Amino acid sequence: TEQTFIMIKPDGVQRQLVGEIIGRFERRGYSLVGMKMVHASKEHIEKHYEDLAGKPFYPGLCNYMSSGPVVAMIWQGKDVVKQGRALLGATNPLASAPGTIRGDFAIDVGRNICHGSDAVDSAKKEIALWFGAQDGAISYKRAIDQWIYE
Ligand code: GTP
Ligand code: MG
Repeated sequence: TEQTFIMIKPDGVQRQLVGEIIGRFERRGYSLVGMKMVHASKEHIEKHYEDLAGKPFYPGLCNYMSSGPVVAMIWQGKDVVKQGRALLGATNPLASAPGTIRGDFAIDVGRNICHGSDAVDSAKKEIALWFGAQDGAISYKRAIDQWIYE
């Protein structure tokens, strides 16, 4: 089944939204299969956002993302990459619908609280970058799955 990489950014940690964000993914029914808190180096963040190198906001983005600890997570379940992005909301919180994480808690695009992989392919790359080349996810059974999946 599908996995995605979800990260609570330094502003999300500072604003004490860790429980809120995890709760939204849990309540939707997704499984948490990997989690750690890290204060990432600037080099690590540059790698994570390497596709954006060259954008005018890239240096500021890398400074912000390496300015404090983040919570790095692997979430699992049906269509979780796309649905995870939907839970986060649009990149620019001013365009994020109420009911989404960014639409409920953020204002500026440069302080938008959370990250989610944009495709199954990038999810695999990001999980490997943050959790190691070996499968960093935990495999376990949940009794509740029979009430979430038909
Ligand atoms: P992530 O989940 O963090 O990858 O966001 P995204 O996929 O919705 O957007 P994208 O990958 O294009 O950009 C990555 C991050 O760069 C965004 O989440 C923002 O924090 C930041 N960013 C994107 N566009 C802008 C911009 O125009 N200005 C500023 N200051 N930051 C931006
Ligand atoms: Mg992105």
